[in-house]
Amino acid sequence: MKHSYVHGYTPVESGRLHDQARTLEALLHGDTHYPAGCQVLEAGCGTGAQTAILVRRSPEARLTSVDIAAASLREAAQRIRTMATATVSFEQADCARLPHADNCFDHVFVCFMLEHLARPNDVLAELKRVLQPGGTLTVIEGDHGSFYCYPQTDAAGRVVRCLIDLQAAGGGDALVGRRLYPLLAGAHFETVRVAPRVVYVDPSRPEWEQGFSRDTFIAMVAGVEEDALDQGLIDPATWRRGIADLKATIGRGTFHYTFFKAIARKAID
Ligand SMILES: C[S@@+](CC[C@H](N)C(=O)[O-])C[C@H]1O[C@@H](n2cnc3c(N)ncnc32)[C@H](O)[C@@H]1O
Repeated sequence: MKHSYVHGYTPVESGRLHDQARTLEALLHGDTHYPAGCQVLEAGCGTGAQTAILVRRSPEARLTSVDIAAASLREAAQRIRTMATATVSFEQADCARLPHADNCFDHVFVCFMLEHLARPNDVLAELKRVLQPGGTLTVIEGDHGSFYCYPQTDAAGRVVRCLIDLQAAGGGDALVGRRLYPLLAGAHFETVRVAPRVVYVDPSRPEWEQGFSRDTFIAMVAGVEEDALDQGLIDPATWRRGIADLKATIGRGTFHYTFFKAIARKAID
């Protein structure tokens, strides 16, 4: 199934998603746990970076992980197979048209998918349909507008802007984190609670410089070089300077980014 996705489906991008998941696990998943025996739907599982964390943190929950991309699902299944405790059912599906019955999952988990959707409301309505009354929806998303650094240069800001603009041109929203409350409340979920999860990096935290600044954020921005140049969003010299300026924060400057984690409930009528 062909599907347009700003970061692409390359092995480099898959590696980036796994680095990102490992680095951010404690910050984003410290409070993610599903009880034994419950049915959990992971929507947009990709190559399984979050699936592995869900399995580790909730080994006795029954996980169904879906994605629209068959190749990503195959990779996810291969990775999870190496985890002795894993009982995950991988299924190819469009989250706007799931093949599952109404009310059949106890919980739904979504990470870094809404930002790629032109019509997130359609997907949220569908996730609500398959969620049982009283069940929870958890959504984790970033917001590239929350990024700033020191030293902050114009070129650094412009390369990040290229990613935001490319994602918007593809129908997505790299600034979706700030919209989680209105999106979930607008989809008629109840008790919507959104918590910012702040990443702060300086040279006293070398593991964050490598795991987040370099391998997650700068790698993600650098990944859209070809598209940004092809579409004339930036000239090559400014692109090179912007990426160099982002890298120059490592070892001497600071890096800031905010993720947002929302937990909401489906109403019991
Ligand atoms: C940035 S990746 C995130 C993957 C994974 N959740 C993670 O955090 O590593 C976004 C994923 O959403 C999937 N996706 C996008 N639109 C989808 C849809 N309508 N239905 C199912 N999956 C979708 C893409 O194929 C991609 O694997």
